[in-house]
Amino acid sequence: KPKACIFDLDGVIVDTAKYHYLAWKRLAKELGFEFTEKDNERLKGVSRMESLEILLSVGGIKIDDENVKLQLAEKKNKWYVEYINQMTKDEILPGVIEFLELLKSAGIKVAIGSASKNTITILERIGLKDFFDVIIDGTKISKAKPDPEVFLKAAEELSVRPEECCVFEDAVAGIQAAKSAGMKVIGVGDPTILKDADKVIQSFQGQTLGLIEF
Ligand code: BG6
Ligand code: MG
Repeated sequence: KPKACIFDLDGVIVDTAKYHYLAWKRLAKELGFEFTEKDNERLKGVSRMESLEILLSVGGIKIDDENVKLQLAEKKNKWYVEYINQMTKDEILPGVIEFLELLKSAGIKVAIGSASKNTITILERIGLKDFFDVIIDGTKISKAKPDPEVFLKAAEELSVRPEECCVFEDAVAGIQAAKSAGMKVIGVGDPTILKDADKVIQSFQGQTLGLIEF
C-alpha cells in the first residue's frame, strides 16, 4: 500500500476545469473563434501559457509578441479568478472529503500536486488549505506536466520515495507525469481518455482503502 497520495486539484478535488473552460472559451470568442469541449481536453493539466498556445493553434492564430500573449493569458486569468472567487465548500466533488479522511486515519500522507498558480486561492475558498501535509503548485515548479517535477517535489517534501506514492489525476498530461515519476496513478474520469492510468474511477463516492492496493 502507498505511504502517500498526491492529488491533482483541478478536476479531481473540485471541478474547476469547467471554469478554466469558460474563461478560455470567452477569450476564444473575443479572438473570433469557437472553442469546444473536445479541444478543451488538451488543456487539462497543462500550464497557463501552454494552454494559450494550444488555444491559439486551435483558432489558427499566430502571435509572436510575448507581451501580447502574456496580456491574453492575464485576461483569461482575471475571468477565471472571478469564477473561483465565488466557490464554496459545496463544490468539493462528491466523496472527496470522506476519502481524504479515510487516508488520514490510516496514516497515509496527503499532498496536492497541481500546475495551477491559483491553488492556494482555491484551497482557501473550499476550506482545505490546512488539510494537506504538502502543497506543490504552479508557483513552485518550472516544468509543466507531463514533466514529473510537480509529483517528484511532492514526494521529496513528504519524505517518501516516488514508488511509495499514488497520484490521482483527471488529465492525460498528469497521468504521463505520474508514470514518469515512477508512481502509481489512478485516473478520475473517463476510462477511454485516461487509458494509461493503473485504474480509473468515475468519482470518489463510496471508495475504500482497497482502491489504493495494487
Ligand atoms: C491545471 C489545469 O491544474 O492548472 C489547467 O488543469 C490550468 O487547465 C493549469 O491551465 C494552470 O492553472 P492556472 O490557475 O495557474 O492558470
Ligand atoms: Mg486536473
